[in-house]
This record gives sequence, structure tokens and C-alpha cells, in this order.
Amino acid sequence: MKDPLKPGIFKIVSRQAAARNVRAYVIGGYVRDHFLKRPCTDIDIVVEGNGMELASDVASVLKVNATLFKNFGTAMLRYRGLEIEFVGARKESYSTDSRKPVVENGTVEDDQKRRDFTINAMAFSLQQEDYGSLTDPFNGLNDLHDKVIRTPLDPDKTFSDDPLRMIRAIRFAAQLEFTIDNTAFNSIQRNADRIQIVSQERITTELQKIMASRKPSAGFYLLEKSGLLAIILPQVALLQGVETMEGKGHKENFSHTMEVLDNVASMTDNIWLRWAALLHDIGKPSTRHFDKETGWTFHGHDFVGSKMIPGIFRQLRLPLGEEMKYVRKLVQLHLRPIALVNNVSDSGARRLLFEAGEDIDDLMLLCRADITSKNPMTVRHHLGNFEQVSKKLIQVEEKDAIRNFQPPISGEIIMKTYNLPPCREVGLIKDHIKEAILDGKIGNNYEEALDLMKQRAAELGISEAGA
Ligand code: CTP
Repeated sequence: MKDPLKPGIFKIVSRQAAARNVRAYVIGGYVRDHFLKRPCTDIDIVVEGNGMELASDVASVLKVNATLFKNFGTAMLRYRGLEIEFVGARKESYSTDSRKPVVENGTVEDDQKRRDFTINAMAFSLQQEDYGSLTDPFNGLNDLHDKVIRTPLDPDKTFSDDPLRMIRAIRFAAQLEFTIDNTAFNSIQRNADRIQIVSQERITTELQKIMASRKPSAGFYLLEKSGLLAIILPQVALLQGVETMEGKGHKENFSHTMEVLDNVASMTDNIWLRWAALLHDIGKPSTRHFDKETGWTFHGHDFVGSKMIPGIFRQLRLPLGEEMKYVRKLVQLHLRPIALVNNVSDSGARRLLFEAGEDIDDLMLLCRADITSKNPMTVRHHLGNFEQVSKKLIQVEEKDAIRNFQPPISGEIIMKTYNLPPCREVGLIKDHIKEAILDGKIGNNYEEALDLMKQRAAELGISEAGA
């Protein structure tokens, strides 16, 4: 196994700590990731003494600046792509109604006790006499081997020190494909409510890591089972369950969503496409309806769902710009490719290409991932239809180049030709041309569009400038 303390920085920290007569250790994620053979560029150094002073000494040897966070007594420096954080070993507890720490100086053992999980509480010594030896009071190495997330102390205590750790446990379980020890999981179920004192930004950082894992459903099933999902993302928790009327049940939308999410995750790392998968059926609970003739329907859930996206992004403090618009668009359009099956006309395909624009391939990926059923015959049938639509889209795109469609006659041209200011008529003419192209009444080219512009302007009683 690679020498974890090979980077020269560790020797330098070790020498400077000896010069100050303090004990220093590498602790946490770096040690865990070393054993997991995962790359790690964040290094945490814990010092039995003043972290800021040691950081300053190390920074002056390296000729870099250390950033000091005096309120927290921590310091950070960057060196050769590594981010190194220094912290004084602490005994720490939090008052019950906030995250404000009450801090006292402590030993490395005290510090290890207040860490979140046994696998994150291991430390390598930087003392010259036992340089590189592992301090592992809670058998984190065994837990790594057994793939178990366990807290060093009674989980009620560890989670009450920082309730975010309940979601971190689930994040690590999803990311590392570990299980959560029963005692810890029971404690999460008992304490789920306490997540409400944690800031949304910290929660969302963890959610993004769950989303980025190979099989995000593993995290969401645990969030659901623990009761956390109902608090942090109730709209998704509501997908859970099946209602039965006159002996007829509908598809269980939570497990379906999980399947779609994993399907998408297996095909792309695009985190926003994964969000679109998680949220694609979010409009179903409020549109669910039972009809004696047709059974269960969710009419308009695509539209209702897309309307819910800005609110969900705001609630989660996710970016409200392009990313949100992309997810909203995919949710809104997610039924459209399959709807084309019954009417694979050129104009239907053109309209879809126009509305999806650049995102058509992502939409098709989501749509394909959305084909799930316990019955393999049904899946095969839908996949066949899907392939037909796919082919049609490719043909129409090759012929008409609609994907990056810009109407060949711009508003500018219309205004110039007729000496008009920006006004309703300009919009009417422009729309008329666009609709005609999408309907296939004229080709997607300048000449035909110009003729149509003239015809429509005449109908509206508008004459050319200077005429
Ligand atoms: N830690 C903790 N409780 C938290 C957050 C962090 O005890 N709520 C400790 C853990 O020992 C963790 C270390 O601080 O290993 C560093 O935390 P962080 O950088 O957030 O996570 P990593 O464990 O490094 O993992 P990742 O890089 O995947 O976020």
C-alpha cells in the first residue's frame, strides 16, 4: 500500500510540531481515504496545542500564507494542490438549541471521540518517535473492512452534537456502499426531527453527494426509512405509497422514481439530469385521480411538477439559474417523447425538438430511464416504441435542423423592413413564421420565411418602409 505520509508536507509539520513541543496527527477523511485507496487532497491536522501557531510555522517554511480563523481557532493553507487544515484538539459539546460549540482544549483521544464516525476518527501520528503509526481507538479499520458506518460514542450523543451527521451517515453509506450499524440507524430514526436546527446549505451539500453516488437510490431509501426525507424533501417523500380503489392500485411512485434515478445515474454523471430524474413525477401526488372507467390517472403531472421546481430549488438553496430552468424543462417535457408514439408526425417531432432544443438528448435519456415495469414484456413494448420515436427525431433533425432553431427572420428584420418599433405586430409576424416552420407549411429557410413575412404583414395591413 502507498505510503500515506509520503508528501513532504507531513515531515515539515512533524518537524515544526517537535520544535514547538506539541503533538500533531493527521486525522479524519485523509486517513480513511488512504485505506479505501481513494484520492484525497484535503488534509486535516489535529494538534494537542495551538493549531493556528503550528499552521503559521509550517506556512513560513513553505513560503505560503496561512488563513487563520480566529473565532474557531483553526487555520488553513494551500500547498501543491493540497488543502491543509490545522485544528487544536478539542473537547467539544454543543448547547442543545444551536450549533454553537463550547470548546475546551483536549487530547487527540478527546478529539477522536467527538468525531462523527469510527471510520473518520482514525489518526496517523506525526511524532518523530512513532511517525506514521495508526491511532484507532474505535476500531475504524475493522468497520472499514466490514463496510459499516458506526459512531464512536453512543449515537444519540454523536448526533445531538451535530444533527447533520444523521444525513452524513446516509451520505457515506450511499457514497461508499456501506451499511449503517443498527444502533446508529435507530438513533437517526429517533432523532430525525433534530435536523431542523441544521442550515439548509449544509444539508444540501450532503444531498448533492448522495446524488453523485453510483446508486443514489441507496441514500434516498435510507432517508425515507429514517424519517429524514419527510422533513427535508417532503415532496419526494409524498411519492411513497399506493392507494387502492375498487381493487385497483396504481404504480408505487417512490420506488419507480428510485429506479428511474438509478437508471439515469448509470448513464450519466450530470447531476442536474439526476435531479430531473428524482423530481420527474413530483406532480403525481397532487394530480392523482381515480376514474371508474379509466382507473388511476395523473393528468397534467408533468405541468404541475414543472411548476413545483422553482419552489423546491429555492427551499433547497440550489442554484436558481440555468440549472433550475433545465430541470424544470425536463420535468415539463418528460412525457412528450412517449406521447409521440401515437402520432409520430414530422410536425410533432419538430415541435419537440424545438422545445427541448440543446437538451433533447438529455430528455431522451430521462425518457428511456422512465420506462420501468415489473413485466419484461411491457418494458420491451415501450422500448420498441421509444426507439421508433428516437429514429423519427433523428430523421427530422437531419432534414430540418430544428434543434438549435432560430427563426430565419428575426424581429430586427421585421422592424427594419416595416420601420416598426418593438410592438405586438412584430411578435405576431415572428410567431406566424415559427409556427409555419414547425408545422412544416414552409421550409426552415430565409426565402420561404421572407415570403410568409410579407404575406402576413399585408394581412395585418402593414406596408414596407418607404413604400
Ligand atoms: N467531521 C465530523 N462531523 C461533521 C463533519 C466532519 O466529525 N459533521 C469530521 C470527520 O472526522 C471528518 C472530518 O471532520 O472525517 C472532515 O470532514 P469533511 O471534510 O466534511 O468530510 P470528509 O470526511 O473529509 O469527507 P468528504 O471529503 O467526502 O466530505
